[in-house]
Amino acid sequence: MAYPRSSQPLFAGAGVSRQYVISIVKCYKGSRMSDAEKKRIQQLREEIRRHDWLYYVQASPEISDRRYDELMDELKALEAANPELITPDSPTQRVGGEPVGGFETVEHAEAMLSIDNTYNADELRAFDARIRKVLGQGVAFHYVVEPKIDGVAVSLLYEDGTLTLAATRGDGRRGDNITANTKAIRAIPLCLHGGGFPARLFVTGEIYWPRKEFDACNERRAAEGLEMFKNPRNGTAGTLKQLDPKVVAERRLDFRAYGFRAEPEWQVERVTQVVNKVKGFGIPVNEMTPCGGLDEVNAEIDRWSRRRAELDYEIDGVVIKVDEIAIREALGRTSRYPRWCIAYKYETERAETVLRSVDFQVGRLGTITPVAHFDPVALGGTTVSSASLHNFDQVERLDLRVGDTVMVEKAGEIIPQVVEVLRESRPGDAQPIAPPQTCPACGAKTSRDAGGVYLRCVNPECSAQIRERLRFFAGRDQMDIDTLGPAVIDQLVTRGLVKHFADIYALRKEEIAGLERMGEKSAENLLAAIEESKSRGPARLLAAMGIRHVGGRVAEVLIGHYEGIDALAAASQEELTEIDEVGPVIAATVCEFFASDAGRETIARLKNAGVKMSVEKRRQADEANLPLVGKTVVVTGTLEGFSRREAQDAIKMAGGKVASSVSKKTDFVVAGDNPGSKAKTARELGVETIDCQEFLKRIGRS
Ligand code: IVH
Repeated sequence: MAYPRSSQPLFAGAGVSRQYVISIVKCYKGSRMSDAEKKRIQQLREEIRRHDWLYYVQASPEISDRRYDELMDELKALEAANPELITPDSPTQRVGGEPVGGFETVEHAEAMLSIDNTYNADELRAFDARIRKVLGQGVAFHYVVEPKIDGVAVSLLYEDGTLTLAATRGDGRRGDNITANTKAIRAIPLCLHGGGFPARLFVTGEIYWPRKEFDACNERRAAEGLEMFKNPRNGTAGTLKQLDPKVVAERRLDFRAYGFRAEPEWQVERVTQVVNKVKGFGIPVNEMTPCGGLDEVNAEIDRWSRRRAELDYEIDGVVIKVDEIAIREALGRTSRYPRWCIAYKYETERAETVLRSVDFQVGRLGTITPVAHFDPVALGGTTVSSASLHNFDQVERLDLRVGDTVMVEKAGEIIPQVVEVLRESRPGDAQPIAPPQTCPACGAKTSRDAGGVYLRCVNPECSAQIRERLRFFAGRDQMDIDTLGPAVIDQLVTRGLVKHFADIYALRKEEIAGLERMGEKSAENLLAAIEESKSRGPARLLAAMGIRHVGGRVAEVLIGHYEGIDALAAASQEELTEIDEVGPVIAATVCEFFASDAGRETIARLKNAGVKMSVEKRRQADEANLPLVGKTVVVTGTLEGFSRREAQDAIKMAGGKVASSVSKKTDFVVAGDNPGSKAKTARELGVETIDCQEFLKRIGRS
């Protein structure tokens, strides 16, 4: 589906530096607002909205988070210089408001109903039979099947294309006005895209917390000694009750719509006919599969149940709905449920087993986590025999003892949980679980952290911590050394060859070849992979060091600012705090790390080993000789031997600019397999299109 574009060609350069943004603002400040500047604000807003749409509706982002932030920074700077031009639907206004004092209650234009549940094929057949009986013979209709996302329902109102109200379900008739918080969710457009939208559009859908973001937030909370959220659904509900929209923005919630009503009404027969229209408005819509009859519905139920474990969100079943709008109306509702839809809920799988032991795992930051080991049980298609107990508060809450019979559950969470102790089955000799006084790996004394929930080993030389830190360092999102797997790491640490992750750069071939199941060839491969990791760049290196609160995102922001580890190390705490997204806690931790002996030694050793510490700065003379200087290039389709990101990096390294969309300013388009609409646009505009071979030639790599 095409995104409705403005008639303006959109600016789409490569990186815009902060200096650049500051200088634009300076020059704007000194002069009267010109038409060009107004136009630029419009272009930026349009461009940002388009990237939100690409990311959330199309699930195919064209630019990096970094680039997105740069666009946003530029817009913020321009608006700060010209506050009279700020409009409520500007993307900068998502967290523009002040914290609210509380939530006002609002009445829903149409009651938000609940859905009746079924748990098996018979109940589903009964639902289908009921509908057919009511409709009488010869009335044909279709179903749609969609995932039942386990989040929080919300209703949105767009008036003349602008989001004016968002409310929780509440008791179905009245809910809380959560408009300010909803605006902080990037997936929800502040204004509809394109045109042709109805005067009033009511959208219902689910706000949820993507698993990855949820885990990242819980990890940060654990590191800060804060209580973790029990599951994404609870976390979402808690987040939407926050009085400060900034907190909502940070947590990166997502949204999918499943209900649409327009005033004046759409003249269509089926809901699925509205979906493309709504997506075109920039609203992400829940996945919906049209199904002819029950057989197809059952196949969808199975398909979703198989996909469930791999989804980035939790579902507790699927929803089966009649697609035809007139038939929905004819079927009507009971006091609580519509008669045209039903939820097929997946059973929460539970099993009884006996807790045999609890051991304690030490994380890379020293956190000690109790892990339960029980008699193996079959749950959700796999056999499980262990489950994290998270922390000692949890052990106490459950009143868990070794020897207890326990219930283990694998509900929405794909990870099994011990949810209950069957007290009546407790044997006389059941053993209480005491928090260890000493670290199970190194024997150092343990201590409770400030919040009191977590127990830690504070010995930085603890072998378990070293192992975990090295695993993290070599992880895919950090230094990405895939041949350095857990088995090799275990041996390296146990044999004392590695005491610190920096030691891997001093490993010799004969040391590695001496490990179990390591021949000469694999030792060479591992060394080559370690060598290659030196060039990952400072942002990934910074994240890999595992400084508390400094994950991949924060590392990118910091390096985006300072371009290298040395410059970052020299920054003061005050300076760091001034950066967007860097709060006092992060600033303090970063400064503390670089001021510590251990931190300084780590940096010195990595530097000595030749690990890349800064973003490459080329001399101007060299730069002018690069093959793509002054060229703006667009990449489309799949290029052989290049990921999208690699192709873009190659263009930048060759001195060129990467653009996300084709315009007359584009010098050429590199088209791989299955090129999209961009190749077509290029043809229409008469922009040169080249293939992968020619591309290699032009960047000097043929
Ligand atoms: S339709 C009148 N579709 O499930 C029908 N609901 O148990 C209204 N939910 O409150 C809802 N995914 O929070 C619908 N694809 C989906 C859904 C869905 C999740 C939630 C929603 C609703 C609850 C009812």
